[in-house]
Amino acid sequence: MSTVFPYLILIVIISLNWNIGAISPDIFWRDYVQNDIPCDAIEAAPGRYIGQAYYNGFMVATLYPFSNSATFDFGGKKAVVGNLKILCSHQPDKLYWEKVNFSAPHDGQMTDAVKGGNQANQFDLYIGKIFHDGEWKIGKVVEITNAVKGLWIWDKVGKEIQLLDFQILKFNMSTFGCGRRVF
Ligand SMILES: *[C@@H]1O[C@H](CO)[C@@H](O)[C@H](O)[C@H]1NC(C)=O
Ligand SMILES: *[C@@H]1O[C@H](CO)[C@@H](O)[C@H](O)[C@H]1NC(C)=O
Repeated sequence: MSTVFPYLILIVIISLNWNIGAISPDIFWRDYVQNDIPCDAIEAAPGRYIGQAYYNGFMVATLYPFSNSATFDFGGKKAVVGNLKILCSHQPDKLYWEKVNFSAPHDGQMTDAVKGGNQANQFDLYIGKIFHDGEWKIGKVVEITNAVKGLWIWDKVGKEIQLLDFQILKFNMSTFGCGRRVF
């Protein structure tokens, strides 16, 4: 026992180090200042950015440049003006959109999905997009095991729409490592 113990400690320390940096995707939210799109903001579709607005939780929203409001669904189309965040990343090449179908079995469809907020502190929200009614819409995704699963957007008259076929934002964790020692 006494001779094995130091080796066990070493193994534990090595395993802990291996996990550093691989637990959450390299994304962050900057304060959005009207007309000022940060150079590391993620353009999710031509002229469309991923916004976050506070409204019964942190909502995933479509952010239109030049506008000071972000649009999202919460029981219908809503817009929050000011106090918005915009999604940015230092590793945009690790982000990708995956086509999902939430009517199908859930195998791996949520794996590596990027968290975008939460709804009223009840459940997490993820980030989805769809080309709908002639434009790209970015909205909140409720995960596949939830009864209200899917991408939630709005139609022309502002009525909410739940979609099960859409694209979800993911972060490729397989090559991600950012452990940096400063000592
Ligand atoms: C989604 O999955 C359902 C159930 O497996 C299937 O019937 C449907 O055709 C799929 N839709 C698409 C667009 O693949
Ligand atoms: C993740 O990155 C690795 C290495 O670049 C690549 O081989 C793999 O195909 C990527 N996975 C996805 C789902 O893009």
